[in-house]
Amino acid sequence: MKTLCCLLVGILAIYGSFAVDRNNFKTCEQSGFCKRLRAQKPEKSQYSLDPKTVAVQGNTLVANVVTVDRETQPPKVLHKYVLKLSAIKDGTFRVEINEAEPLYPRYVPQLALVSAPVTDKLELVSSDDTKVIAANSQGHRVVITVDPLKIEFLDKSGESAVVLNENNQLFVEPLRKRKEAVEDETGQILEEDEEGTWGETFKSHHDSKPRGNEAISLDVSFPDADQAYGIPEHSDKVNLATTTSGEPYRLYNLDVFEYELDSRMAIYAAIPVMYAHGSKRSVGVFWHNSAETWVDVVNYADSNVVSSLVNLVTGGQKRKVDARFMSESGVLDVFVLMGDKPKDVLRQYTALTGAVPLPPKFSLAYHQSRWNYVDENDVASVDEGFDTHDIPADAIWLDIEYTNGKKYFTWDAEKFQHPAEMVSNLTAKGRKLVVIIDPHIKREAGYFLHEDATEKGYYVKNKDGKDYDGWCWPGSSSYLDFMDPRVREYYASLYRYENFAGTSKDVHIWNDMNEPSVFNGPEVTMLKDNRHYKSPEPGQEGISSFWEHRHIHNEYGLFHISATHKGMLERDDKKYRPFILTRSGFAGAQRYAAIWTGDNSAEWGFLAASVPMCLSLAIAGMSFCGSDVGGFFKYPDSELMTRWYQAGAYQPFFRAHSHIETKRREPWLYDAQTLSLIRDANRRRYALLDFWYTLFFEQTRDGLPVFRPLFVEYGDESEVLTIDNQHLLGDKMLVRPVLEKGVSSVQVYLPGARTRTVWYDVDTYQAYPADGYITVDTPISKIPVYQRGGSIIPRKERVRRSSALMAHDPYTLVVALDANNTATGTLYIDDGETYDYKNNKYIYAKLEYTQERMTYTYIDESATYPTGSWVERIVVAGIKTAPRSAKLLQGDSTTSLLMTLHKGNDVLVIRKPAANMAKPWKITFSY
Ligand code: GLC
Repeated sequence: MKTLCCLLVGILAIYGSFAVDRNNFKTCEQSGFCKRLRAQKPEKSQYSLDPKTVAVQGNTLVANVVTVDRETQPPKVLHKYVLKLSAIKDGTFRVEINEAEPLYPRYVPQLALVSAPVTDKLELVSSDDTKVIAANSQGHRVVITVDPLKIEFLDKSGESAVVLNENNQLFVEPLRKRKEAVEDETGQILEEDEEGTWGETFKSHHDSKPRGNEAISLDVSFPDADQAYGIPEHSDKVNLATTTSGEPYRLYNLDVFEYELDSRMAIYAAIPVMYAHGSKRSVGVFWHNSAETWVDVVNYADSNVVSSLVNLVTGGQKRKVDARFMSESGVLDVFVLMGDKPKDVLRQYTALTGAVPLPPKFSLAYHQSRWNYVDENDVASVDEGFDTHDIPADAIWLDIEYTNGKKYFTWDAEKFQHPAEMVSNLTAKGRKLVVIIDPHIKREAGYFLHEDATEKGYYVKNKDGKDYDGWCWPGSSSYLDFMDPRVREYYASLYRYENFAGTSKDVHIWNDMNEPSVFNGPEVTMLKDNRHYKSPEPGQEGISSFWEHRHIHNEYGLFHISATHKGMLERDDKKYRPFILTRSGFAGAQRYAAIWTGDNSAEWGFLAASVPMCLSLAIAGMSFCGSDVGGFFKYPDSELMTRWYQAGAYQPFFRAHSHIETKRREPWLYDAQTLSLIRDANRRRYALLDFWYTLFFEQTRDGLPVFRPLFVEYGDESEVLTIDNQHLLGDKMLVRPVLEKGVSSVQVYLPGARTRTVWYDVDTYQAYPADGYITVDTPISKIPVYQRGGSIIPRKERVRRSSALMAHDPYTLVVALDANNTATGTLYIDDGETYDYKNNKYIYAKLEYTQERMTYTYIDESATYPTGSWVERIVVAGIKTAPRSAKLLQGDSTTSLLMTLHKGNDVLVIRKPAANMAKPWKITFSY
């Protein structure tokens, strides 16, 4: 019944109007704690710190905090808390506030942090009755005003950079026992708990809230900030908007059918990190909490913020951003990232939650997916289609229909009779297979996984302790409780080749629906009073012996992909790097999986949204991001399809995917011109694969996103702070995909005027000195892409069927000169799939060009890799004086090189230097 209804709704979505059913999802008013907290705006905070209790334990300052009823004289103490302030390495602080004696333990996320944060020296500078001052070793100070409690973080010059509880919105609702209602003799209730404390209803769903209200809230002010960013995933702009007259940004992993654009509604992923940037500094906060969270933002520079106070104080605009985090449960645990440049603050976040590990190289290439490639013949013919039409492709994907009745880890016995053979047909061309594995398990007698999970107690339980039964693709389903380490162990074992027939190292995994999606649950997810495993601790019984889903919701998918990751590592004794795609996400998810923006639609607005959505995810750690190329619902016409491939070719995760009910749309099903433009876009991607791979490698070391908003590099140019239709690849390429229908030109902002940056159009090598906006003609074949002067980018230009077949192909090195006639670049090479690089089997090299010479030297001198690749061509753009001759020196041999000048004599091509990339080399120029 449900399937039919979903299908009907699906068909409507495809052919009819496209709109989310907002009634299915809560507004802040409908979310008890959000409503309750948002209404609380005390003039003075109830929280105060007792300076007499301040103690420094190691690198943590500990003090007692109390809430007081300020109406009584003397003020009556209401509740006791403990505050901890720790200094973390490299300019980060951590503030934790928990109840001194909570009735039950309060949840702290378990997987978000990559490891226990490394501390920095914390020094108590002074402490008196009004203020406590501490400092880290970097020169940042923390000034704690004791009553009311306010925590101010000063930058190295002593200026206020981040302030907590300036707006009195710190709350940690104490856990409590249910109050017996007090009645008078007429039966009228005189005293009882606030309505909703012990239960809430949304639509037909009741949440029993066995622990009562336990919300937390904190306001964070960013003085001098012009813009704030982060807290994905939303379909909104990259810079955060003022929320006072609407809904807050919501963070709650949800499967939102037909999600809408320009919205702060929660969708699939929820990553609670926010950055604030202004001309003085960049800072950030990481709200370490996995419960449902809402975030209010006030940017005083927004024209809609009418604040008489601001006008009174400043006589006009004030540079400041205020934010407020509200979560349904947990401990108050916030990391303050002191920056002070955008790159510092991003690195500080990565230091806490981890970088994207080096992906297998194929995963950076092009992926072809559809719900569904129906059988082995279909897979073979799609695979063949790429060869017939000379389009490179690296992976074919199978969606849920490949399984036997949506039972994961099985195959449809009719349609996929020879999975191993099917896979080896793909791998013969260097291609891979990616198959979907969702976290819901079909409740069907005889299905081994269901029987194992039932017998061993591996499912998430409902509030009564019975296996929770929800509805998803297979119909009646239960959900594995990945919080239980035994379940993760078991699930990981299912990925072993002997347990998942037909798979091999060339089969990778797509973990979808892991918000988790429950079609008949509240807001299409699980009931919040469902029960999860909690590691047993002595003396904890009853409701202390499990976590509720409410506590861990945003972390569920992270537990899921961590188990998959473990399985994929173990199936090969940790030899090969896994590739996993996830739909849900939380802080730290980047350590296990790439992410895509879910079920978008073949509409121009969704193409445009793919850039800010992935930029926001990228700065929140999840750089390996893309959107369904072509759009999931509906059918893209030739123009939209072309533009989507052109944009996708420059986004980290590049996969075409479509809904089961849409018309087939493999590239060759389009007209000849479109096919040729798609081919061109894919080939552009493949030419740059080694550049992408090098960026991903560098990201593992420097923690910076591969896919970058302009403010990360050019944050001192106010124009770039709201640009989100352009992006950078590392710091070397600037892309302004065409995201609009029917346009014959676009405006491209070229940043870096102050540093005399020059940008080169990659198609023509035409140099454009940075000077703000330029207008660029965009016939349908044009993708505005620019290489920064001063950079060297490796390309591989031979067309092959897949990236694996390009492994030893020669390079073209594109040298784009800066104003000083110099350029530098890097190159990373390894086998593309194993962990051997951890044993020094790789090349990480530096390319440097000056007027006199060009060199290729190893950055990591102890590492090497036997690559067969060599230099086929060097293109130097922006030449002012051409050299007369050039000589290559490699090992003991010296070779004279042939050169030609092109294009108005400013592009020099060095032909066939034939330098071998397995050894350093040098080219010298004479004039
Ligand atoms: C979800 C995914 C989509 C997939 C479908 C069927 O809607 O987001 O990509 O095709 O499930 O598995």
